[in-house]
Amino acid sequence: MNHFISVNDVLDLKAFVKEALLYKKTPFADKYLGKNRTIGLLFFNASLRTRLSTQRAAQNLGVEVIVMNVGQDGWQLEFQDGAVMNGDKAEHIKEAAAVVGQYCDIVGVRSFPGLTDRDADYSEIVMNQFLKHTGRPIISLESATRHPLQSLTDLITIEELRKVERPKVVLTWAPHVKALPQCVPNSFAEWMNAANVDFVIANPEGYDLAPEFVGNAKVTHNQADAFAGADFIYAKNWSSYEQYGKILNQDPSWMVTMKKMELTNNARFMHCLPVRRNVVVEDAVLDSEHSAVIQQAGNRVWAAQVVIKHLLIKLAREESPFLF
Ligand code: CP
Repeated sequence: MNHFISVNDVLDLKAFVKEALLYKKTPFADKYLGKNRTIGLLFFNASLRTRLSTQRAAQNLGVEVIVMNVGQDGWQLEFQDGAVMNGDKAEHIKEAAAVVGQYCDIVGVRSFPGLTDRDADYSEIVMNQFLKHTGRPIISLESATRHPLQSLTDLITIEELRKVERPKVVLTWAPHVKALPQCVPNSFAEWMNAANVDFVIANPEGYDLAPEFVGNAKVTHNQADAFAGADFIYAKNWSSYEQYGKILNQDPSWMVTMKKMELTNNARFMHCLPVRRNVVVEDAVLDSEHSAVIQQAGNRVWAAQVVIKHLLIKLAREESPFLF
């Protein structure tokens, strides 16, 4: 693995999930692997889980961690090649990323989409510029279109909790008060399409995800149909891809309720968090045995740990090829 940006960076998904679950049993099994290594975690946007779980994962591997809230504390960055920098942007990504690469062996970047220009967001300019100019392995801590650490976590959680070989997994749109990115559902769809699950996406009309992410999933606009017989319900709001970044409706009838959970095969309820109670999902579900959200969030550590491990091995191979 050279970087961790999407599911395509993982060679053997099944083995990867198994390794992550092994770390859950023995967190310090590789506590010297990261000796004398430093990971830099750059946040252009807020975070609780990604920040803490990735730090914890790095520490378990003996890696030093530097965290920077670039969006608040750094210089305003210019990402366009050839820009005349006579405005408010003080530093170009070419220098900024290359400099970060001087201090860190691995670099994690979180940068959300603007949700105004679909082509710009889906071209992944920020992540691609870090990939191009840092000279180090890059981990996406959530980009304009994907959240791969979350999706790996989700797959780990489904593997832990599944009761049948091929569970029915439903990704359902749910209402929200703000326009949210498509990163989590895009990524979840990408990973579920690569896993051994029966995958269904339920969303209101106008909220279909980009076709490249929907892949082979069954898409329905009927939430009750989707819930029937489901083993996992994964709720998430997203703004429209078609009318890019817009909230087309906040239809409360799409909130996940206990009554709807009764349509399922005693499904587990999943959400990436943070979640707005009684808007996305009602208290009764989150506070019930159905809810897997805390276990899911806990698994963020093992997902990050297996990713960092593979990147540390890549670095070691490059520096001492005779050892491998
Ligand atoms: N799920 C998730 O990425 O949480 P944070 O935004 O708190 O990191």
